[in-house]
Amino acid sequence: MNRFKDSEHLLRVTGVFLAGIVLFLCLRAWFVPKSFGQYGHYRADSITEIAALPIRHAGHEVCESCHADVLEVKHTGKHANVNCEACHGPLAKHAEDPSIKPVLPDTAVLCARCHEANSAKPKWFPQVVTAEHSQGLPCNTCHQPHKPGLKDTDAKPADSKTADSKTAEAKK
Ligand code: HEC
Ligand code: HEC
Ligand code: HEC
Ligand code: HEC
Repeated sequence: MNRFKDSEHLLRVTGVFLAGIVLFLCLRAWFVPKSFGQYGHYRADSITEIAALPIRHAGHEVCESCHADVLEVKHTGKHANVNCEACHGPLAKHAEDPSIKPVLPDTAVLCARCHEANSAKPKWFPQVVTAEHSQGLPCNTCHQPHKPGLKDTDAKPADSKTADSKTAEAKK
């Protein structure tokens, strides 16, 4: 008669576990999106949703077809491999309709984004402490954005010590 008295505890624990599993399965069925797993471990509908997003970048070949003059300058300088929209931002709308005029980038923000000195960047990459280097002048006072070697100017950067050692290095 008392045979099951102690095992009652086990039965109760098992009951709680089973209820938990059932609850989990119900919630899972409720929350997991319908198309999940159709092609793999992701939501298959996301593919069509992403494909339906408007295209924002035109691609540099498109820009170059109208702005051949810029390309001509650019491919002779160090920015040859920096694409138009990396600096100008997504301009698919302008490429489709040139009367939508793009806003020209602010060099103080744009150039620093890539060239602000940071010890995490590879040593070979040209870097400056912009606050000291530019003396508050816009970068394009001295540099031409499409071909960043120096413009003809007498202005000298404030950090000309590093600048000089670089020049010496380059002359070797
Ligand atoms: C279909 C030809 C065409 C394409 C493609 C095109 N542009 Fe233009 N773009 C123009 C014309 C024309 C102007 C001049 C508009 C004006 O001065 O009123 C212009 C002007 C500009 C300007 C200067 C605005 C200013 O204030 O002087 C920038 C920057 C520019 N385009 C960048 C781009 C980039 C980057 C791309 C590629 C994403 C691109 N364009 C694609 C025709 C084109
Ligand atoms: C390294 C960044 C950078 C890249 C790459 C770049 N631009 Fe520019 N571009 C600028 C900046 C900054 C200005 C504004 C210059 C100014 O205000 O004097 C500018 C100005 C322009 C202008 C206005 C006229 C002029 O020459 O000043 C046009 C047009 C233009 N860019 C088109 C292009 C196209 C097309 C490409 C790709 C072939 C391209 N840019 C690549 C930074 C860039
Ligand atoms: C998207 C990143 C990017 C932006 C934005 C950018 N650059 Fe550059 N810059 C580069 C790369 C990449 C190089 C080439 C590094 C190399 O190969 O040595 C370079 C090289 C240079 C050099 C070295 C030229 C030389 O002869 O050694 C200067 C100066 C320079 N950039 C100035 C500018 C200025 C000024 C601006 C803003 C108008 C600017 N950069 C914006 C990526 C960028
Ligand atoms: C007053 C003129 C002037 C201004 C403004 C200026 N630069 Fe320079 N920059 C120079 C000179 C001169 C050099 C060349 C030093 C050399 O030959 O090594 C140089 C070199 C550079 C280099 C290459 C450094 C290297 O290690 O090779 C980068 C990157 C650069 N500048 C970015 C910028 C950025 C970004 C801005 C805007 C925040 C800017 N410059 C504003 C004059 C200027």
